[in-house]
Amino acid sequence: MGIRILGTGSYLPETVVDNQAFTAIVDTSDEWIVKHSGIHTRHFHDGPTYEMALKAGTAALENAGLQPEDIDLILCTTVSGDYDTPSMACVVQGLMGAKNAVAMDINAACAGFVYGLDMVNMYLQHGYRRVLLISAESLSKITDFTDRSTCVLFGDGAGAAVLEGTDAPFYSVLGADGKGACTLFARRPDNPNPFLKKQRTIAESDGFSPSKPGMLCMAGQPVYKFAVTAMPQAVREVCAKAGLPMEDLDWIIPHQANLRIIQTAVSALKLPMEKFICNIADSANTSSACIPIALDQAVRDGRIRRGQKICVVGFGAGLVYGSAIFEY
Ligand code: ACO
Repeated sequence: MGIRILGTGSYLPETVVDNQAFTAIVDTSDEWIVKHSGIHTRHFHDGPTYEMALKAGTAALENAGLQPEDIDLILCTTVSGDYDTPSMACVVQGLMGAKNAVAMDINAACAGFVYGLDMVNMYLQHGYRRVLLISAESLSKITDFTDRSTCVLFGDGAGAAVLEGTDAPFYSVLGADGKGACTLFARRPDNPNPFLKKQRTIAESDGFSPSKPGMLCMAGQPVYKFAVTAMPQAVREVCAKAGLPMEDLDWIIPHQANLRIIQTAVSALKLPMEKFICNIADSANTSSACIPIALDQAVRDGRIRRGQKICVVGFGAGLVYGSAIFEY
C-alpha cells in the first residue's frame, strides 16, 4: 500500500523582493547573498498564511478534478500559522467547504511536507480515501528584519497535494535530534501571569539563547553542518529501505534552505545536479512549503511525469529530517 498524487497546487505571493532591496535595511549585498545561499529573490505575502494555504489547496483540488466534499482529511504543515488555535487546517476546511474532512496541523518545521506524506500514508491505510496535504508558510511574519544573517534567507509561499491510496509502494525515513533544538527556534511572547513570581518561557540553561519573542533565531553553522550530513544520509537510507539504487530515482526534491547545502548533498551522493529540482533562486527558503511548491512547478512544466520515481528530502528546526520515495 502506498500513496498516489491525484493533483498538486502551489501559490507564491505577488510581492517579489530582490537582494538589492535588503541593502537598504541591513549591511549586506546581492553578491554575499547569492554566493552564500544561491538566493536571488523571495516572495512576501501581505495577508494571513491561511489565504496562501487555501489558494494552493484549491489549485491542487482543481488539478485533481475533485470537489472539497471529496476530501476526508486535511493536514496542514506550518511553523508560521496565524493562530495558536484553531489549526490552519480547520480554517481552510471551513473556507473551502470541505465539510466531510477532519482537519489538523503538523509542525515538523522544514521537513513538514515529508513528515506529512508519512502520516498521510498511514491514514490512507486506515480507511481514509482522499487527503489534502497543504504546506503553507509566512516566514516573513517570524523573520527579524534587523538580523542580516537570517532575514535574507526566507520567503513566503504554499504548496499542496491531493493523495489517495495505491498499490505502488511508499517508503519513508524520519529522524529527529532534539539536542539541536536550541540551534533554530522561535519562542512564544511572554504573557505576564500575576500568579507566578518570575516569567520563564524558555530555559537558557538548556542552551536557548535570549531572542526576540516570536522571531526566528538561528545558529547558521550548526544547522548547516547538520543539513549537509542529514540530507545525503536520509536519501541513502530511504533508497536502501526501498531496495532501489539511487541512480533509479528520476527526481530528487530537496528542502531549499541553501544552494550550497544542496550542492554538497549532490556531490556526497555522486548524483547529477540535473536530477535535483531547485527553485531556491526565485523563492528562497519557504520552510515546509519549499518541497510541494517545487513538486507542483515540476509537474506543471512537464519535468515530472506519471510513473516516475520521486524522492523528497527535508530537514529543519528540531532538529528533524526526513525522506520519502513514491511514484508520481
Ligand atoms: N550579508 C553580509 N554578511 C553576512 C550576512 C549577510 N546577509 N549574514 C552573515 N554575514 C557575515 C557574518 O556576520 C560573518 O561575518 P564575520 O566573519 O565578520 O563574523 C560572515 O558573513 C560569515 O558568516 P557565516 O555564518 O560563517 O556564513 P556562512 O557561509 O555559514 O553562511 C548561512 C550563513 C547562509 C546562514 C549558512 O550558515 C546556512 O545556510 N545555514 C543553514 C541555514 C538553514 O539551513 N536553515 C534551515 C532551516 S530554516 C527553518 O527551519 C525555518
